[in-house]
Amino acid sequence: MRFRLTRVSGAGLVLFCLLLGAVQSYALQLNLTDSKGTCLFAKWEMNFTISYETTNKTHKTVTISEPSNVTYNGSSCGNDRNGTKIVVQFGSAISWEVNFTKEASYYFIDSILLSYNTSDSTTFPGAADKGSVPVNNSLQTVKFPLNNIYRCNSLLIFNTDSVVQRYWHIHLQAFVENGTVSKKEHVCEEDIPVTTVAPIIHTTVPSPTTTPTPTPTPTPTPKVGNYNVTNGNATCLLATMGLQLNITEEKVPFIFNINPATTDFTGKCLPQTAQLRLNNSQIKYLDFIFAVKSENRFYLKEVNVSMYLANGSAFSVSNNNLSFWDAPLGSSYMCNKEQVVSVSRTFQINTFNLKVQPFNVTEGKYSTAQECSLDDDTILIPIIVGAGLSGLIIVIVIAYLIGRRKSYAGYQTL
Ligand SMILES: *[C@@H]1O[C@H](CO)[C@@H](O)[C@H](O)[C@H]1NC(C)=O
Ligand SMILES: *[C@@H]1O[C@H](CO)[C@@H](O)[C@H](O)[C@H]1NC(C)=O
Ligand SMILES: *[C@@H]1O[C@H](CO)[C@@H](O)[C@H](O)[C@H]1NC(C)=O
Ligand SMILES: *[C@@H]1O[C@H](CO)[C@@H](O)[C@H](O)[C@H]1NC(C)=O
Ligand SMILES: *[C@@H]1O[C@H](CO)[C@@H](O)[C@H](O)[C@H]1NC(C)=O
Ligand SMILES: *[C@@H]1O[C@H](CO)[C@@H](O)[C@H](O)[C@H]1NC(C)=O
Ligand SMILES: *[C@@H]1O[C@H](CO)[C@@H](O)[C@H](O)[C@H]1NC(C)=O
Ligand SMILES: *[C@@H]1O[C@H](CO)[C@@H](O)[C@H](O)[C@H]1NC(C)=O
Ligand SMILES: *[C@@H]1O[C@H](CO)[C@@H](O)[C@H](O)[C@H]1NC(C)=O
Repeated sequence: MRFRLTRVSGAGLVLFCLLLGAVQSYALQLNLTDSKGTCLFAKWEMNFTISYETTNKTHKTVTISEPSNVTYNGSSCGNDRNGTKIVVQFGSAISWEVNFTKEASYYFIDSILLSYNTSDSTTFPGAADKGSVPVNNSLQTVKFPLNNIYRCNSLLIFNTDSVVQRYWHIHLQAFVENGTVSKKEHVCEEDIPVTTVAPIIHTTVPSPTTTPTPTPTPTPTPKVGNYNVTNGNATCLLATMGLQLNITEEKVPFIFNINPATTDFTGKCLPQTAQLRLNNSQIKYLDFIFAVKSENRFYLKEVNVSMYLANGSAFSVSNNNLSFWDAPLGSSYMCNKEQVVSVSRTFQINTFNLKVQPFNVTEGKYSTAQECSLDDDTILIPIIVGAGLSGLIIVIVIAYLIGRRKSYAGYQTL
C-alpha cells in the first residue's frame, strides 16, 4: 500500500512535467562549453512583474515574460573559482545576471542582479523616472551539490519592493566536470509533494501480523496565507486564509494543502465583482469571484479551478451559482473554524482561519467582521435554555406527583 502510492506519485511527477512541457513550450536555455565539452547547463523559465511610477503619479505594473529577442551575452563558465555567471538580456529593457560561487562539495548563487531600464517606452510606457533600476538579491542559503543536475519545477517567487521575480522549470548545473551534464538529479524541496505523500510515508507502518486497515490519514491543516489584491496603489481586496483542496474523482480523495510561500496570486476589483486568482506549479488557476447582492451584501458567487492531479491529468471545475461567505458591504467575513466550500460533487475547499473583504476596503485594513455561525457560540444558549426548561418541567411534574401523593395520603388518614 505504502509502496504503491509512493510509486504512483513518482510517475505522476513525470507525467506532470510532460504535461507542463506541452502547455508551456518556451524556455530559456544555455549550454556553455569549453575544451572538454559542456561547462554550464541551464534551462529554466522566468518572468518579472515590475511596478513603476508614471508621469501621472500613478503606479503601473508590467509583467515581462520571455520575448523573442533573448540574448545571453556575458555568460561565462569563468575559471574553476570565479567568474561563473549567466547573463540574459530581454531586448534592451531588461538585463539579468546571476553569478555562482563554488565551495568544497557544492556551489551557491552569490547574487541575482536584475536591471530594468524605464527609458524603454515600449516596455514601460509613461514612466516618470527614466533610467536603469537595479534589483539585487542573493540566494546563498541554497546549496547546489556539485556534479548533480538541480531540478525545480515548482514556482519560486522572490518579492522585492517593486519587483516580483518568478522562476520555474529550472534545470541547472554549473561547474560541470569532464564535459558532460550529470545524470544525477538533485530535486528541490518544493518539488517533493509533502502534503500528498508525507502523511502516507509518515504514518506508522502497521505491524505485519495485523491486516492493514485503511485508516484515514490525518492531513495537516494548511498554512494561512495573505492574498491581498491591490488596485493601483491601494489595497482593494483582503483575504487571509488557509486552504485545503479535496478532490474526490477517485475512491481515495486527493487532499492538497496550498502552500502560501510558493503560491502566486493576482486579482481584479470592479464595482460589482471582485476576483482573487491563486496559482502555483500545481494549480493553473484557482479563482474566487465575489459579487454584490441587491441588499447591500456581498458573497462568494463563483469558483473556477484548473489544476494537475497527482497522476498528472488535468482537473477543472467551475460553479458560478455558489452562495458562501455572505456579509454586509463595508464589513468583512470571518470564519475561524474549518469551513467547507462545496464547489461540485468532486471538489470542495476546506478553509481555515478565514477572513475576507472583497469590497469597500479602506486604508488596507479589515472592517468589522461578520462571523460565521460555526464560530458562534450563541447557538449553545437555546440548548442551555431548552435543557433548563425541560429540567423545570421535570421538577414541576415531580412536585405535582408528590403533591398528589400527599393529598392521597391526606384522604386516607381521613
Ligand atoms: C508569469 O509566471 C507565472 C508563473 O508561472 C504565470 O502564472 C504567469 O501567467 C506569468 N505571466 C505572464 C504574463 O507570462
Ligand atoms: C549580443 O551579442 C550579439 C552577437 O555577438 C550582438 O549582435 C548583440 O548586439 C549583443 N547584444 C547585446 C544586448 O549586447
Ligand atoms: C556576483 O555579483 C555581485 C554583484 O554584481 C558581486 O558583488 C559579487 O562579487 C559577484 N560574485 C562573484 C563570485 O563573482
Ligand atoms: C536605457 O535605455 C536608454 C534608451 O533606450 C539608453 O539610452 C540608455 O543608455 C539605457 N541605460 C542603460 C543603463 O542601459
Ligand atoms: C494618465 O491619466 C490619464 C487619465 O487618468 C489616463 O488616461 C492615461 O492613460 C494616464 N497615462 C499614463 C501614462 O498612465
Ligand atoms: C572526471 O574525470 C576524473 C578523471 O578521469 C575523475 O576522477 C572524476 O571522477 C570525473 N568526474 C565526474 C563527475 O565524473
Ligand atoms: C473530502 O471529500 C469527501 C467527499 O465529499 C469527504 O467524504 C471527505 O471527508 C473529505 N475529506 C476532507 C479531509 O475534507
Ligand atoms: C488521473 O486520475 C483521474 C481521476 O481519477 C482520472 O480520471 C484520470 O483518467 C487519471 N489520468 C491518468 C493519466 O491516469
Ligand atoms: C469560470 O469558468 C467558466 C467555465 O469555464 C467560464 O465561463 C467563466 O467565464 C469563468 N469565470 C471567470 C471569472 O473567469
